[in-house]
Amino acid sequence: THPPLATIASIGQHEGQTITLRGWLYNMRESGKLLFPIFRDGTGTIQGIVPKAAVTPEVFDRIKSLTQESSVIVTGKVRADKRAPSGYELDVENVEIVQLVSEADPFPITPKEHGIDFLMEHRHLWMRTPRQSAILRIRATIMRAAQEYFDTNGFVRTDPPILTPAACEGTSTLFELDYFGDPAYLTQSGQLYIESTALALGKVYSFGPTFRAEKSKTRRHLTEFWMIEPEVAWLELDGLMDLAEAFITHIVGRVLELHQADLKVLGRDPAKLEAIKAPFPRISYDEAHAMLDEAYKAGKLENPHQYGDDFGSPDETYISNQFDRPVMVHRYPAAFKAFYMQPDPADPTKALCVDVLAPEGYGEIIGGSQRIDSYDLLKSRIEEHNLPLEAFAWYLDLRKYGSVPHAGFGMGIERVVGWLCNLDHVRETIPFARTLNRIYP
Ligand code: 4AD
Ligand code: MG
Repeated sequence: THPPLATIASIGQHEGQTITLRGWLYNMRESGKLLFPIFRDGTGTIQGIVPKAAVTPEVFDRIKSLTQESSVIVTGKVRADKRAPSGYELDVENVEIVQLVSEADPFPITPKEHGIDFLMEHRHLWMRTPRQSAILRIRATIMRAAQEYFDTNGFVRTDPPILTPAACEGTSTLFELDYFGDPAYLTQSGQLYIESTALALGKVYSFGPTFRAEKSKTRRHLTEFWMIEPEVAWLELDGLMDLAEAFITHIVGRVLELHQADLKVLGRDPAKLEAIKAPFPRISYDEAHAMLDEAYKAGKLENPHQYGDDFGSPDETYISNQFDRPVMVHRYPAAFKAFYMQPDPADPTKALCVDVLAPEGYGEIIGGSQRIDSYDLLKSRIEEHNLPLEAFAWYLDLRKYGSVPHAGFGMGIERVVGWLCNLDHVRETIPFARTLNRIYP
């Protein structure tokens, strides 16, 4: 029998008590007759203290023999310590070894530096380190908070298929597979399907994995990523921007509320996230272009932005760096945007769309738009984009039977994790990243 079981995240509730932890040895320091083992249990890490005089020689030698990632059951007394990162330390009384990692075949991820290829090759083990665990906990909260926002605001979750007969976001990034002799594709976005559920149910969302055969290496692109997408009947562009603003604010609030300790592990300044409050600035593509033009003329940007072109990565970085909160860029030229976007009645060369760019240079986290609601216009856009009409017949039906204005957006979870955790690359934002040249482990 053991003293009561506790977790490191809630260790503060047990100050002064003797408790049991089940976990792993993360690291150990020795100093003369003292051992300082650091344990982790999935909820956090805590430093133990073992003075030689405080335990039997047998227990002391057993703890001393521990190798990194050996699994253990630890008993000890919780003591508050202001200098400790978690605020507490453990006066270790006993350690039972569940499995001792062999010294001949030690845990490959030591607390020293490793190259990124080595770490990605050992992702199944790398995720045990405090930083990676903190990121995965924050990711889970972002996903939960995102669903919670829609679930508590009258949206019905309707999940679209993953296997699809047609493209949503352009034909150049499709993963094709053989569907009993016919070509099929992994979904790039649930949007087209949730437009139909929105016309059935009013306010809906979908949440699931999406796929893009991204053939370039960047810090922002995965080939498999998770997207959450709301779609709302009767909603227009301004309302869509209000929705994106309230949604993001809610998610950031939850991360701040629940993850102060994890943000500290990541070295993430919470003040930067506390600034994420509505209203977010809203600027048109034309205004964003003017900003870039001025920046180029002032020597703050290496290359000029051509009016009419999409923004490149350095352009997005520059724009988002001008604000301390996400900026919503709306009304891009329709020419390089998706076929389904509603033209702006004030200037039909522009689309009623919005990209939300995260601050600190993180760039696009949300892309969305009002959808074309006219049958004839949608049909001609499908033709202009050389998309197969037959595959879109059902989608055109939505414009035949009670068409209404409607709008929605998609937010990539990994982009948001990268931003809130202040990471350099999306590969650390998901348990097992899928990229151009990695599908192992
Ligand atoms: O801007 P995108 O392509 O928009 C759509 O797919 C719309 N159909 C969504 C909608 O209106 N319902 O993608 C939406 C978001 C991007 O803003 C980005 O956050 C993320 O999905 N995203 C990616 N994340 C990681 N890796 C990639 N390769 C991504 N491509 C898009
Ligand atoms: Mg986009």
